[in-house]
Amino acid sequence: MKLLVTYRSVTGNTKKIAEAVFGVLEGEKEIKPFRDVDTLEGYDFVFVGCPIEFFGVGKTTKKWLYKHIQGKRIGLFCTHGAPELAPGVPIWTDALKDVATDAGAEIVNFFNCQGELSQKVLDMMSADDDPYVRKLASFGRDGSIGQPDEFRIEKAREFARRTMKKML
Ligand SMILES: Cc1cc2nc3c(=O)[nH]c(=O)nc-3n(C[C@H](O)[C@H](O)[C@H](O)COP(=O)(O)O)c2cc1C
Repeated sequence: MKLLVTYRSVTGNTKKIAEAVFGVLEGEKEIKPFRDVDTLEGYDFVFVGCPIEFFGVGKTTKKWLYKHIQGKRIGLFCTHGAPELAPGVPIWTDALKDVATDAGAEIVNFFNCQGELSQKVLDMMSADDDPYVRKLASFGRDGSIGQPDEFRIEKAREFARRTMKKML
């Protein structure tokens, strides 16, 4: 089975998860960022990862998903600055799943975890017109520093192993 792990990662968090997933895969496998993917043809299974941007799927990710994942079975994963249990998270991750499904993929398994929120993003959020975004910014980035930590990275490995079991 030929496997690919592909991801978008602006500040490196989703890349860490992608590398953890890649590390436990067996057999023929490749890892590359979205921008280096020409086609997903020829891969039997693809792990696809991205950050949550603006409470859902960023434009670049959305465009990439619609271009590439039609008819593919995928393991989908994402990182976000908010803690996993923050109220918005299930809404944003559902938005990502909806886009992937609408783009024609079958999601075999899904994983999400917190990633460090960069100071640059926090500054942007603090200056946003939307009071909800400013409210989120007021929580700061301290709780996210160092994420994804080893605990979350191990969870990502478990996600990859479980996903491959489902594919057997
Ligand atoms: C433009 C932009 C918008 C973001 N919007 C959200 C958001 O709505 N909710 C959230 O929890 N994190 C948000 N984040 C934080 C990222 O999802 C988080 O830091 C993620 O781990 C970044 O992954 P990366 O390092 O792979 O790019 C945003 C980040 C950026 C750059």
